[in-house]
Amino acid sequence: MSSRGNFSGRIGFILTAAGSAVGLGNIWKFPYLAGQNGGAVFLFIYLFCVFVLCYPVMVGEISIGRHAGLDAYGSYNKLGGKKWGYLGLFGIMIGIFILSFYNVVAGWAFGYFLHISFGDLLNETDFSSFFGLFVNDIFDLTSAKGLANSNFIFSMVFMAMTAFIVAKGIQKGIEAANKIMMPTLYIILICIIVYSLTLPNAMSGVRYYLIPDLEELKIQTLFEGLKQAFFSLSLGMGTLMTYGSYLKKSENITSSVATISLADTSVAFLAGLMVFPLIHFLQFKLQITEVAQAGPPLIFIVLPQIFHEMGPLLGRIVGGLFFLLVCFAALTSTISLLEVPVAYLVDQKKMDRKKVSWGTALLIFVIGLPVMASQGMIPALNNLPFYKGQDYLVFVADMCDIGLTVGGCLMCIFITTRWKIENMHSELENGNPNYRTSFLKKYLNFTIQYVCPVLLGILSILIIYDKFVGI
Ligand code: PFF
Repeated sequence: MSSRGNFSGRIGFILTAAGSAVGLGNIWKFPYLAGQNGGAVFLFIYLFCVFVLCYPVMVGEISIGRHAGLDAYGSYNKLGGKKWGYLGLFGIMIGIFILSFYNVVAGWAFGYFLHISFGDLLNETDFSSFFGLFVNDIFDLTSAKGLANSNFIFSMVFMAMTAFIVAKGIQKGIEAANKIMMPTLYIILICIIVYSLTLPNAMSGVRYYLIPDLEELKIQTLFEGLKQAFFSLSLGMGTLMTYGSYLKKSENITSSVATISLADTSVAFLAGLMVFPLIHFLQFKLQITEVAQAGPPLIFIVLPQIFHEMGPLLGRIVGGLFFLLVCFAALTSTISLLEVPVAYLVDQKKMDRKKVSWGTALLIFVIGLPVMASQGMIPALNNLPFYKGQDYLVFVADMCDIGLTVGGCLMCIFITTRWKIENMHSELENGNPNYRTSFLKKYLNFTIQYVCPVLLGILSILIIYDKFVGI
């Protein structure tokens, strides 16, 4: 195992896995999903999904990886034979597609960071049309600044940073980067929350976020909560399996997973606590309602408007820090996504890590070009007739979400019927000598074999039906 590299210890593993989990999902997606799905109601459903359904799946996924000591394909193949290996390949494909769109959004955040910190974005008056133009013309051919403003370049640089870190290997690259970025991210987050809570009308935002309105409870809220929990925890496609393969036998998986889930959930929760007071401050200032429901453009349209209202200097500082936070969160996730196919090629095809990291990154960047062009540049991709007129980015993101819950469901079936749950329990005893007699063992035994596969199976089918036909 050591020739593949491994984590230096518990802290390194936890920070890195939490880095994968904490990302755009927490800071970009969670607040707008909460805004659209009734605030507190969404928060509670999300917590239920994380602790009841996702915790066991994450423990299972990491145990498989550590037991096999290989990439996602190699792990399934080693423990379950060739047919199960396809499930590993399916996960790797999903990871490639997630990274293809994720990197585009990360590129936007990187562009906004530069534009706000060093440019004059906050002097805009109409942030909605700015965002429209920004994502539409990916080469920015109309602007005098030309390529310096190009979305294409922003995403390319972001992908290059990702490849650079992954190429350096587990301890010197991935772990080292996470050890710097994760603590910084928390510090920035806390600073912005403290500031946002002091703004006028902040408490109304906090109330909206924390007091559930049961009238908002719909079956779709459950679907959204589950998909978001899987996405946010990076579950179901082999990222954590791959990271698990670099974990030493002496580490306690069950307690590490509890810490990782808490870290991820706390960042999502805190991101809401940062964003809702800001939104309600804006509503108060401009005497408008309904911005809480802004959807995907929330952080790119509504927040810059808020930074604009703060005045030139403060806006630049708070806005710049905010987008730096988003970039850090995204980068710790993109490296985990790139690591999945890279580990596969290094383990299975015995290829050189450096070359493979750069080559795969380039390939995924190219796969992401249609996503970039789907925001207006190529009208056919902006309005998919078979997908209710939504754009290609939404389509890819939705398909990946479904892939994650299906992957999680099949993984539980794999543990139950092929690898056998007893083997998972033995793996979990490493680093946790009291595990065998604990209540947790009984809980995992029941949830992984019955609750998770059944609920995830039913929900995945309902989600697919809802997406294509509608409930
Ligand atoms: N968990 C990341 C986020 O919340 O942004 C996204 C992600 C990363 C999903 C890695 C899947 C993955 F394997």
